[in-house]
Amino acid sequence: MRDYISKIGGFFITFEGIDGCGKSTQAKLLQENLKNLGYDAHWTKEPGGTDIGNMVREILLKYNQEIDVLTEFLLFASDRSAHAKELIKELSKGKIVISERFKDSSVAYQGYGGGLSINFIERIHREITIIEPDLTILLDISPLVSIKRVKAPDRIEKKGTDYLERVRNGYLILSKLYKNRYVIFDGSKEKNELSQEILKVVENKLKAYFF
Ligand code: TYD
Repeated sequence: MRDYISKIGGFFITFEGIDGCGKSTQAKLLQENLKNLGYDAHWTKEPGGTDIGNMVREILLKYNQEIDVLTEFLLFASDRSAHAKELIKELSKGKIVISERFKDSSVAYQGYGGGLSINFIERIHREITIIEPDLTILLDISPLVSIKRVKAPDRIEKKGTDYLERVRNGYLILSKLYKNRYVIFDGSKEKNELSQEILKVVENKLKAYFF
């Protein structure tokens, strides 16, 4: 996977974690900090990083009735399919691409959280794209902190603390499976302190990758 990325250039960073972990804040701070250091950093997100993705996002988060986990996954997967093409486009320009969420969100939420076969999720993902993150930043928080932080919960965020606990544990399992690309941070830390910690790790990874 890494060979493919190397061929198209760029460096792919994903932010992951349960709702309210601070991904959006930290992803944007990282983009700003990297730009200030002279790097060409592109920010994007799932669900909704493309026009099609934004329409899918509306269904996924606003539809206020039950959606079975397979349908839910396939909707996220269709969003990702559109998004992956954009990611490749930006990576092939040699950019640092920062994405809030990617494949691991489906594994953690629909797989560990919702009980859908992880093999199945991985299989569909392989059909969608062969790109893999070079670095995944997991912002770890407890479900209680999550519930406190999320003021207006969407359809997924309304699934409750047991669900969030399963999703969080799923991420912790993924961080062990993919030790080479995962770095875990304490998402409950003060945002500026946390952003400096993240920047330090990212800079070291970029130096090792590009130079
Ligand atoms: P989120 O990152 O919280 O978006 P925003 O902060 O803009 O509302 O993502 C929305 C929800 O979608 C979140 O609860 C996680 C969920 N999600 C999945 O369940 N599976 C996936 O594959 C993805 C990408 C997201």
